[in-house]
Amino acid sequence: MIPYKHEPFMDYSKEENRKKLEEGLATVKDYLGQDYPLIIGGERITTEDKKESYNPADKAETIGYMYQANQEHAQKAMDTALETFESWRKYSFEFRSDVLFKAAAIVRRRKYEFTALLIKEAGKPWKEADADVAEAIDFLEYYGRNHLKIKDGEHVESRPGEYNQFNYIPLGVGLVISPWNFAFAIMAGTTAAALVTGNTVLLKPSSRTPIVAYKFIEVLEEAGMPEGVVNFIPGSSKDIGDYLVEHKDTRFVSFTGSRDVGTKIYEKAGVVQKGQTHLKRVIAEMGGKDTIVVDSGVDLEEAAEAIVYSAFGFSGQKCSACSRVVALEDIHDELLEKVVAKTKDLKVGNPEADVNVGPVIDDASLEKISKYIEIGKKEGQLEIGGKTENETGHFVHPTVFSNLKHDAVIMQEEIFGPVVGFTKAKDFDQAIEYANATDYGLTGAVFTTDRHHIEQAREDFHVGNLYFNRGCTAAIVGYQPFGGFKMSGTDSKAGGPDYLTLHMQGKTTSEML
Ligand code: SER
Repeated sequence: MIPYKHEPFMDYSKEENRKKLEEGLATVKDYLGQDYPLIIGGERITTEDKKESYNPADKAETIGYMYQANQEHAQKAMDTALETFESWRKYSFEFRSDVLFKAAAIVRRRKYEFTALLIKEAGKPWKEADADVAEAIDFLEYYGRNHLKIKDGEHVESRPGEYNQFNYIPLGVGLVISPWNFAFAIMAGTTAAALVTGNTVLLKPSSRTPIVAYKFIEVLEEAGMPEGVVNFIPGSSKDIGDYLVEHKDTRFVSFTGSRDVGTKIYEKAGVVQKGQTHLKRVIAEMGGKDTIVVDSGVDLEEAAEAIVYSAFGFSGQKCSACSRVVALEDIHDELLEKVVAKTKDLKVGNPEADVNVGPVIDDASLEKISKYIEIGKKEGQLEIGGKTENETGHFVHPTVFSNLKHDAVIMQEEIFGPVVGFTKAKDFDQAIEYANATDYGLTGAVFTTDRHHIEQAREDFHVGNLYFNRGCTAAIVGYQPFGGFKMSGTDSKAGGPDYLTLHMQGKTTSEML
């Protein structure tokens, strides 16, 4: 087998690649506005209720209409998943991995179409949409290979006359609740990890980005996934999310989304229901309040570049996005000046036109970000941005605040928008203390040339993904396993070597010879 290597990013400065993306956009344009059914046991089901998915950069453009599942559909999907589990759990490891490899090949062939769909449905600039598709391919390739590695279980010792084995077996029916911010990569990655390990899946995608999820189920079907392995049930948390989290037959929940929703799922899943014969497992990837620390004596141009990209790439709507900068006093002003200058150069607009910063996802998001911008104006000094436009699409201009205390509201609460705050530290110890002073522990970065400071941060900066002399976003599957500490989640490392076994249980067998 070809060793795993991450999917290369496209270079859109090349005319030939731009042309291919334009073709992808034309393909997507041709299927805009269609209706999309639920898929349960392979059956296409239409319901009473339909919800529009629209382009956040151009509210008038409908991507498609998604039928919504109610509790009856959720129960039907559960029954199908329970029944299919009895056969799927016995399929060979090779067969299940092959579904992922074939799916990766199909997505690779349709790369520009998927990139275009993310540009339209999620409002991602080209570079971000391309990275999302590449990450989806990476998850399929990486988990497919990892699954084959755990096929024979782990070695355990046997005494004379005894044959001991330790193997991983699947858990049962898993509920996957996926986000809109990596509408393809995280949706595909969490689904693929759950299914390849022999579980059957109920996939409830984000209601903002269901069409890309539907297209992915079609890819899995084409790749040979048997009917009923993944059941596609878009719907609201209120109608079906809570019902399935609390369901006695749900064996595990794989959730990516906000801290608020994640903690509620964690609580609800902890309650043992009547007739339930197991304790549910929860894999949760929640928010972040991610800090870049900049030490004295570094290349400030490079640090500023990394801050601007980490803060404003995909409008700050990544859980890994930089929303806090802690700068040493002596370099603070020069760094801030460079960040403001680079922010001024960013093009904001509809991402179909290859801009740097596209829209935010919806009205609620724009409103929440605006509220934090108002708080920021009272807590610190607005350096640039602070403007919103909500006529054709939901746009927030990249915003930088300075003169903030490290414990100011906008330095503590997750904004999930293009807003970054600056604070000063008197020395490196204080910088690390400030960096750690949030409820979250997802990503962080340190710019320094001091080896002692690197080692100090390695030990004391308490985040799941710590980067040195680079930005704090863009973890690569298989290279930088991704997941956080504290209120960022269960430290389940997506794209890491132990991720698949979170979806499995270890079975010991001991045979007397
Ligand atoms: N992998 C993404 C990043 O690191 C987040 O899912 O930004």
